[in-house]
Formats: sequence, structure tokens, C-alpha cells
Amino acid sequence: MSDLERIGISLDKGLLGLFDELIRGRGYPNRSEAIRDLIRRELSQEELSQPDARAIAGIFLIYDHHNSNVHQKLIELQHNHLLEVITTIHVHLDHHNCLEIIILKGKVADISQLSDKITSMKGIKLSRNCLMTPGENLV
Ligand code: NI
Repeated sequence: MSDLERIGISLDKGLLGLFDELIRGRGYPNRSEAIRDLIRRELSQEELSQPDARAIAGIFLIYDHHNSNVHQKLIELQHNHLLEVITTIHVHLDHHNCLEIIILKGKVADISQLSDKITSMKGIKLSRNCLMTPGENLV
């Protein structure tokens, strides 16, 4: 942070009290760090609202490996979208259930399309797509 600028903000005491309580609970060392995080999060969200923006994502899936041919279908989908898949992690959770995390890179629209295809596949029990900006534009 070589190019630091100080700013002053006027806030209602009640609102500031709630904010201080929130950031204390989350373990922030000071207000500046918490506000920097809020700004980064908003800028990142704004960037992710653009379909052509570059993004990274982790798609978390839980499925029963006895059920249909989910694993094979997942492999085929990934081979058909080779440029976007960085890696996959497979964890055998118990006798039935597998957790698979597919880590992707690409345009927001392309990732969302692939994510939709995967999560709507027959045999997927639960899924969640965690989309983030790579952070290269954020200090
Ligand atoms: Ni497994």
C-alpha cells in the first residue's frame, strides 16, 4: 500500500456501532481493513455481473457414486470444456457419497453455462458454485 490516501466518513452513531460490533465479531484488526474488504467485495461483485469478465470458480458437488453414471458424465463434460477446467478434487465421503470440486477459469458466462450443465445433471444431490474475480484489479 504505497499510494495511501486518508478519507473521512460521516456515519450515524447507531450504524457505526453495529458496524464495529460486526467487524469485532469477524476478527478485523481495525475499521480500515474491514472497509477495504467491503470495497473489494463490491468491486468484485460488480465485475462478476459482466458476462465477459474473467473469473475463477469452484463447483462443489455431492453425488452417490452408485447412482447412474454421474462420474463418467462429469469427465465427459470436463473434456468438452478443457480450456476452462483447471483441476478437480474427488473425496470419497462415505460408502455412498462423493464430493467433487471442479475448479474452473474463464469468462463468467461460460463458467455459468458449464456450471448449470453440471448441477442440473441427473444424479447430483447437492451443488454450489463459488465464483470469484482473480483479483488482479484489486489492491
Ligand atoms: Ni468417491
